Amino acid sequence: MKPFKPLLLCVALALACGTAAHAATPAGQIHPSQWPQPTWPLATDPAIERRIDALMATMSVEEKVGQIVQGDIGSITPEEVKKYRLGSVLAGGGSDPGGRYNARPAEWLALADAYWEASMDTSGGGHAIPIIWGIDAMHGQSNVVGATLFPHNIGLGATRNPELLREIARITAAETRTTGMEWTFAPTVAVPQDDRWGRAYEGYSEDPALVASYAGVFVEGLQGKAGAADFLDDHHVMTTVKHFLGDGGTTNGKDQGDTTVSEAQLRDIHAAGYVPAIAAGAQSVMASFNSFHGEKMHGHKPLMTDVLKGRMNFGGFVVGDWNGHGQVKGCTNTDCAQTYIAGMDMAMAPDTWKGLYESTVKHVKDGTLPMARLDDAVRRILLAKMRMGLFEKPKPSARALGGRFELLGSPEHRAVARQAVRESLVLLKNQDGLLPLSPKQRVLVAGDGADNMTKQTGGWTLTWQGDGTKREDFPNADTLWDGLKSQVQSAGGKAELAVDGAYTRKPDVAIVVFGEDPYAEFQGDLPDLMFKGGRSGDLELIRKLKADGIPVVAVFISGRPLWLNREINAADAFVAAWLPGSEGAGVADVLLRGANGRPQHDFSGKLSFSWPRRADQYANNVGQPGYDPQFAFGYGLTYADKGNLPPLSEEPGIDPTKSRTSTWFDRGVAATGLTLRLTGADGEAMDIVHPSATTPDGSLAMTAINTDVQEGGRQFTFSGKGLVELRSNAPLDLDRETNGDVFVISTLRVDALPAGAPVSYLATSGKTTRGEVSIAQALASAKVGEWTRVGVPLRCLRIAGVDMKSVEIPMALQAGQGVRLSLAKVAIGTDYDQKVTCGG
Ligand code: BGC
Ligand code: BGC
Repeated sequence: MKPFKPLLLCVALALACGTAAHAATPAGQIHPSQWPQPTWPLATDPAIERRIDALMATMSVEEKVGQIVQGDIGSITPEEVKKYRLGSVLAGGGSDPGGRYNARPAEWLALADAYWEASMDTSGGGHAIPIIWGIDAMHGQSNVVGATLFPHNIGLGATRNPELLREIARITAAETRTTGMEWTFAPTVAVPQDDRWGRAYEGYSEDPALVASYAGVFVEGLQGKAGAADFLDDHHVMTTVKHFLGDGGTTNGKDQGDTTVSEAQLRDIHAAGYVPAIAAGAQSVMASFNSFHGEKMHGHKPLMTDVLKGRMNFGGFVVGDWNGHGQVKGCTNTDCAQTYIAGMDMAMAPDTWKGLYESTVKHVKDGTLPMARLDDAVRRILLAKMRMGLFEKPKPSARALGGRFELLGSPEHRAVARQAVRESLVLLKNQDGLLPLSPKQRVLVAGDGADNMTKQTGGWTLTWQGDGTKREDFPNADTLWDGLKSQVQSAGGKAELAVDGAYTRKPDVAIVVFGEDPYAEFQGDLPDLMFKGGRSGDLELIRKLKADGIPVVAVFISGRPLWLNREINAADAFVAAWLPGSEGAGVADVLLRGANGRPQHDFSGKLSFSWPRRADQYANNVGQPGYDPQFAFGYGLTYADKGNLPPLSEEPGIDPTKSRTSTWFDRGVAATGLTLRLTGADGEAMDIVHPSATTPDGSLAMTAINTDVQEGGRQFTFSGKGLVELRSNAPLDLDRETNGDVFVISTLRVDALPAGAPVSYLATSGKTTRGEVSIAQALASAKVGEWTRVGVPLRCLRIAGVDMKSVEIPMALQAGQGVRLSLAKVAIGTDYDQKVTCGG
């Protein structure tokens, strides 16, 4: 085959090939002149430019590099900020003051002061350059206990109310300022095209026009209006428009995957939100983890430099994503001149900042990274800091809103969030006008989402994945049940909560609240659109109540539309509630009539994502060929509509048993695609199909034990050296999870552990590579006879040599004589009781 000649193609297609002499495949080529040209609203300020010139003229290379590297508060101390003169820190989803996800607001603020003071302390040399702290204030200041938690973006998409979004952004900025941060990593303007993507809920809509209608006003709400007196003042924060570019367009909706759409689609669909955001003066844009036709965005010069900063006139700075630079070809997390050369201004190097700083200083000194590029990056960052007036500001706690914690979850703010909940609810079905309900009746509230803050707030809430939180972590919040109960009771009705539906007296009506458990990023990627209700048996619950002659209203909590035709058929009324956040009472406002018997609020939410007809309708988006959804984009009933639906097809279109999950072992059995195998001291292996088994040599015996469910676990008794393995039928690609610091979490119970007995966790790739991590210490510190979740960082397995892209045995336990262990569950995640360190 002849090598491809790009020049010829330019001529053949009569396209302007632009400036980029770029090694992209033809399909991945970018033509900047064909991209939109928003106007950057901020004129050059000569006084500021002079000030920056003067400052930069006396900054050392080391100081300049300090500005372009960002560390995470979990991995950098204020002392290190002082020493290395770093210009920015972030708090990742899993990073909190003192390592406690529920740290108090005052602890966040004190830490913000400490970093600021370190950046202004020149006793060790250098210039005083105020630090900026970025945080994922994604749906409110959602890392902080007590903050107002707005619906996630998918729910806001359904409101079709840009002015409400402006108000939400304004409140989010104010609450963020109370804890000292001046910069949020929001809004996400992804245009998710495949609902299997674990970040679908971070997007407002599958429709670029709807995303664009929000992006500019949201930026204005956060930052203030460009040119106005309050622009970027102490009541506002800098925005990050993310993730540039094509995050919502990856093949199969795979997080951090490859986007292989045409350049026109990349521009018209995925870049739609950047146009108004730039016109509103967004101060930063975050580079995306995804690639475009095989080339990672963190190294994509044509898009980052030629399009974004050149053609699109973006006058802020580009920030990287979590070690995203390390995924660029030829880079590591601690060494990547390429990303800066391609146009990155500040690399996010959470736990790798020191290495990246050191290698970058070297690259500048030996000319690999041109001084002009370094200067441009530093200038962009200093410009943003000066636009905020930060050089003149006192420490974060002494600024206008610093320490005003009464604003966190204040009644006024919560009222806006509650309005957003009401406006985000989409009514899919209302058979015979069951809704709105009289609050004067006997109302049963059931389902595991009814009184469940963790579920209704979703990912990016106090913890990265949104899991592991408790009700008391949400002092300023109502569950759906809280809202329903209080309105029913005050109207003289009777409300009963029974998660499993086992009512004490037969109700007049039941509201069943169910849905997805929280997730974030790739951990939420799905193989198909089946709803895996799992344990709670939601469909059965609805059917059982119906069989008892009780009308059922189903309320579905989720980060995306899923295939639910069976549930929709079974229920009389069906409401998509998305991820409503802290104001669950907004649901009661719409479902229940007021005291005067009239509806309090009608439904006004309209689908911003098309609802699938089958579980294999992954990418069925409005305006695209073959569009054939169950409920179209824009669908949403009101009380004036006839809400009856004919029975929907219950044919899912896929084989539900084939789908892959992140749970590898549960209730005593290996998940689909995995096999449980025992190997005895003599090396003889056997695959397990029954609840009990003993290896031929008798050295390893397995029996079923009860957990919270009958035979929910397996107990392994070692009377010689033995191995318990979970083998994957096809090699597993755990690369993304490993990059994201995910753990294998084994729910284990130590039943007998002789002092000093070795126990290890093993994983393998290929036939020969095996990585071993000792878990003896973690087990020794666990209480005998009690369940504990032991987390093994996937990273440790990679360090031990396992190829994480092709894992054959993701989990095995090896132990010797006298050890007795029980195992209930193995899954990947971040919520563990005990963490194993790579060393042992
Ligand atoms: C996510 C970003 C986020 C960053 C910091 C990344 O993994 O992709 O959206 O802002 O982490 O938490
Ligand atoms: C996330 C961070 C999170 C980290 C957890 C990253 O991928 O973006 O926000 O804190 O993983 O290890």
